[in-house]
Amino acid sequence: MPDRPLALVTGASRGIGRGIAVRLAEEGHDIALCYRFGKDAAEETRQAVQAAGARCFADRCDVTDAGEVEQFVAAAEAALGPVAVLVNNAGITRDNPLVLMPPEDWNEVIATNLTGTYHFTHSVAFGQMKRRNGVIVNVSSVAGVYGSATQTNYAASKGGVNILTRSLSRELGRYGIRVNAVAPGFIETDMTQDLSEKVRKKALETIPLRAFGEVAHVADLVAFLVSDRAAYITGQTVQVDGGYSQ
Ligand code: NAI
Repeated sequence: MPDRPLALVTGASRGIGRGIAVRLAEEGHDIALCYRFGKDAAEETRQAVQAAGARCFADRCDVTDAGEVEQFVAAAEAALGPVAVLVNNAGITRDNPLVLMPPEDWNEVIATNLTGTYHFTHSVAFGQMKRRNGVIVNVSSVAGVYGSATQTNYAASKGGVNILTRSLSRELGRYGIRVNAVAPGFIETDMTQDLSEKVRKKALETIPLRAFGEVAHVADLVAFLVSDRAAYITGQTVQVDGGYSQ
C-alpha cells in the first residue's frame, strides 16, 4: 500500500462527510471528496484536510449520475492513486407522509442514497478486487434499521444500503475487501437543523444517553472500521446513536 492510501468520501462539503474526510486525513490517508452543492464549503473541507497533512482532490460530482461518478473516480485516481477506502456518505432526506409524497421525492432519495452508493461502489470495487485490497464503509441510518414515520423513502433507501452492505461483504470477502455500514442516530448537522423543536424534543426522550450525537462520534467509528483494528469485521451495520431504538 502507498504511504498515504487514498480514501474517497462522497458528500464531504459539510456535515458528517467533512468530519470523516478530516478524520481519515488525520489517520494518514490522502483524500478525494465530492459534493453536489456548496463549492465554498467544499473548499473549507479541502483546507482542513490539507492542514491535517493530506493531499486532497475535491470536485463536484452528482452521485446519481453514473457517468459523472466514473469520471470523478478516474480523475481522483489519476491525481492520487488507487482508491483504497471508499466511504459512501452522500445522502438526502425529502420527508413526507407516504400519501403526500410525490414520486420525484421518492425517486430522488432512492437515487441519491441507494443508487449513488451502487454507482461509486461499482466504479471502485473492481480495482480493489484486482489489488486484493480495499475497505468500503456506507453511511446508513437508524431509520434503515427501525423504520421511521414520514421517512419511508429515506428508510427504504438506508435499509437497502444495509442489505447491500451485507450482500457485498459476501461477494468481496474472498478478495480481502471488507464492507461495513455505520447507522447514525440523530447527529447535529445542517440536515437535522431543519427539524422542528417538537421533533427534537421527542427524539431526545427516546435516546437513552439523552443527547444528540456529534459528527466526531460518527467519524471515529468510520476511522475504526477503516483501520486494521477492524480487520475481522465485515458485513455489519454498526449503530452510533446513543442507544436509540424504536
Ligand atoms: P448534509 O446535508 O449536511 O451533507 C450532505 C452531503 O451530501 C453534502 O456534502 C452534499 O453536497 C452531499 N450530497 C447530497 N446529494 C448529493 C449528490 N446527489 N451527489 C453528491 N453529493 C451529494 O448531511 P449529513 O447530516 O452530514 O448526512 C451525511 C450522511 O449521514 C447522509 O447519508 C445521511 O443520510 C446520514 N445520516 C445523517 C444523520 C444526521 O442526523 N445528520 C443521521 C443518520 C444518517
